Amino acid sequence: NDQKKKQTIEGLELLTKFYHYLLTTAKYGSPGMRYLEEREFNQEMIERFRIGYAVDRWDAVTHLLQKRNMNLQYMSDAGIIAQRGFDNKYFDRFRNRIIFPIFNMRGQPVAFGGRTLGDAKPKYLNSPESDVFHKGNILYGFHLARPEIRKRSQAVLLEGYVDVVRAHQAGVTCSVASMGTSLTEAQAAALKRIADTIIICYDSDTAGIEASFRAAEMLQGDGKVIKIAKMPEGLDPDDYIRKFGGDRFKSDVIGASQTLMTFKMNYLRRKRNLSDEGDRLLYIEDVLRELTTQRRAVERDHYLRLLSEEFSISMDSLRKQLQQMTVKVQ
Ligand code: UTP
Ligand code: MN
Ligand code: MN
Ligand code: MN
Ligand code: MN
Repeated sequence: NDQKKKQTIEGLELLTKFYHYLLTTAKYGSPGMRYLEEREFNQEMIERFRIGYAVDRWDAVTHLLQKRNMNLQYMSDAGIIAQRGFDNKYFDRFRNRIIFPIFNMRGQPVAFGGRTLGDAKPKYLNSPESDVFHKGNILYGFHLARPEIRKRSQAVLLEGYVDVVRAHQAGVTCSVASMGTSLTEAQAAALKRIADTIIICYDSDTAGIEASFRAAEMLQGDGKVIKIAKMPEGLDPDDYIRKFGGDRFKSDVIGASQTLMTFKMNYLRRKRNLSDEGDRLLYIEDVLRELTTQRRAVERDHYLRLLSEEFSISMDSLRKQLQQMTVKVQ
């Protein structure tokens, strides 16, 4: 089994080089290069993330693996090649896609995410779970971001491959991605081990916003500062940086990120018209209801004080009201 893992990683390393060579050097790679240029990724990022391109053929990788005497069964188990039904011949699974190698903590490639150049489905074809790849244990970009995360004790959590590459290109090199919106406990634990401040910057769509609440709750813990960054509706970090530039991403998105509770308060605020007395009371109730789930007294008091100051209500009445609501909730 260790032997199998070792050989699988060797195979994936060979293919990482191959896909990268096809993208950067071979003439067959020009559709991939054109695509990346159009999306304004620079050469430095293509190198750093070892991005590649799978040509539009059924046997490019299969042929290479055979020529190098690689174990085809292992490569098939890792989801790189598959077998045709009628004659059991192997064929390439990644075709005409940009290849984002996914690395483990040691910087070894353990899987690939392959993006279509057009609108083929799925948008990203990913390696399946295998002996060397447990998606829930890996954050995309972690091995590259780790030194910076440690140094600043701060991490930025994004959704996607291209968001991470774009963020690094813009100089936000403490960025990693959960590869979709469902952060796992293992991913959360890995981040918490080396960062006290974690800024979540998921896509600004309903799925992304709701997922940031879940992620924030998973990341919370003693001594941790968890913040949520927000962007104009519909944009993701890659879109934002292309549109407004890296400096504004740093100042107006990362720099303006808010704690989960403040973020929720602003979210609740937008549902109400605070110049209306009735709505004001409803908003205060909304916030108190949210606070019933806040276990830490210091934080609870901090937000009660904000309410107290903004609406000129005594801390005493707010505490009493919160107490009553907490009893009801339990
Ligand atoms: P998104 O749909 O937000 O894609 O998925 P994206 O990262 O913005 O990619 P572009 O800009 O359209 O190229 C976010 C992440 O979810 C995972 C990938 O990790 C992706 O980067 N995902 C998404 C998949 O694994 N498969 C999919 O089909 C879609
Ligand atoms: Mn290179
Ligand atoms: Mn998304
Ligand atoms: Mn996105
Ligand atoms: Mn995107």
